[in-house]
Amino acid sequence: MADQTVQLTDSAANKSTALPVVTGSLGDPALDIAKLNKETGYFTFDPGFVSTASTRSAITFIDGDKGVLLYRGYPIEQLAKQSSFLEVAYLLINGELPTAAQFGAFDDEVTHHTMMHESLRHFLNGFRYDAHPMAMLCGSVATLSAFYHDTLDIADPEQRRLAALRLIAKMPTLAAAAYRFSIDWPVRYPRNNLEYVTRFLHMMFEVPSEPLQLSPVAAKALDLLFILHADHEQNASTSTVRLVGSTGANPYACVAAGIAALWGPAHGGANEAVLKMLGEIGTADNVSKAVEKAKDKNSGFRLMGFGHRVYKNFDPRATIIREMCHKVLADLGVNDPLLDVAMKLEEVALKDPYFVERKLYPNVDFYSGIIYKALKIPTEMFTVMFAIARTAGWVAHWLEQHNDKDTKIGRPRQIYTGATNRDYVPLDKR
Ligand code: CMC
Repeated sequence: MADQTVQLTDSAANKSTALPVVTGSLGDPALDIAKLNKETGYFTFDPGFVSTASTRSAITFIDGDKGVLLYRGYPIEQLAKQSSFLEVAYLLINGELPTAAQFGAFDDEVTHHTMMHESLRHFLNGFRYDAHPMAMLCGSVATLSAFYHDTLDIADPEQRRLAALRLIAKMPTLAAAAYRFSIDWPVRYPRNNLEYVTRFLHMMFEVPSEPLQLSPVAAKALDLLFILHADHEQNASTSTVRLVGSTGANPYACVAAGIAALWGPAHGGANEAVLKMLGEIGTADNVSKAVEKAKDKNSGFRLMGFGHRVYKNFDPRATIIREMCHKVLADLGVNDPLLDVAMKLEEVALKDPYFVERKLYPNVDFYSGIIYKALKIPTEMFTVMFAIARTAGWVAHWLEQHNDKDTKIGRPRQIYTGATNRDYVPLDKR
């Protein structure tokens, strides 16, 4: 396969160019176009990178037609059933499942990097009273680079490892602090006798005056959601982390950029948007009207939580979440009318030719918001929850990028459509 090429023929110039074929261990082959411009004078044009592989990666594989998602080769269904978020984070970063000793050491290190510096806590208090927690998270993660100078030398593998670990460890602390700020509650420090997800839930909900009664169902559900959101190959936020990383920027700046990319409603912001949409639809009776509106291109309205750039059959994460959603609501004794709206919406859309023809299925975010709501996590925090989980993927990709000898600064080209060369006209002559 190494010497396979595809001939590109420029009939106008009567010239043929051989493009090398690049293959991975799974998935479609790619054409290596790195020398295309030099050899032919042409660029490629691919808005949204629909047909472009930006890197080699051994972390996550998706088969969008078959609804397959593998982390380091392990099917998401098996990890969801048998693993934990922290073990998945180890797997994504290191490539293999840990032994008990390796996991113990990793857990111990993460646990002992959960505190934030007191100055950072004071810094958070400087936000306006109604700051969105994603704004606070984005700002505070970037600010970590002003605190941890011992991990800014990205040429040092040990500093890179430590930075990655710090980001995984501190993200829940910063996220919970942003939430507590929004409700004017004092920050709770991380309790190191608890495991990752339970520790986060304590930082979110514990009050100083009494112990927190935490449902094991809640911790289990959140752990599962974190596993499902941990990585998704070269999605918009991960590609952002890699693009910023390609410049040699420090890891905190890279991940802050990833958080900014995640915030958009076409990406991680969709879980917040889904719940708002379900609330606006209100009852199952209004579902057909909403579906009609989503089909009308002039309405500017899309069904949030529907569609995916890569999955054109079903999103395997959505299948797992859908099942979990019913179980969590039953176990917690929550009767949420929005679930009825969501189920009706799914039923109507999946039968509608518009959605069938375009292969638009519920994605991971369609049901996650309903679970977060049942766990009493406020809507503005939904994308923050996604960010905590995706940090594992972001740092795994950032580490991989810095071990890849082919890494170059990311610098796409363009098709220029502006004015052609013209002469400056002095102000008094215009
Ligand atoms: N509702 C109605 N129509 C839709 C939707 C939707 N949710 N999604 C896509 N379409 C239509 C779109 O109008 C287009 O129609 P046509 O071919 O007639 O022009 C066709 O389907 C293809 O859409 P696209 O925008 O070219 O597809 P894309 O791959 O560029 O976008 C997407 C993928 C996820 C951004 C898009 O489906 C969308 O906006 N979905 C809603 C937001 C959402 O749920 N995002 C979360 C994605 S999963 C989690 C994550 O990645 O963070």
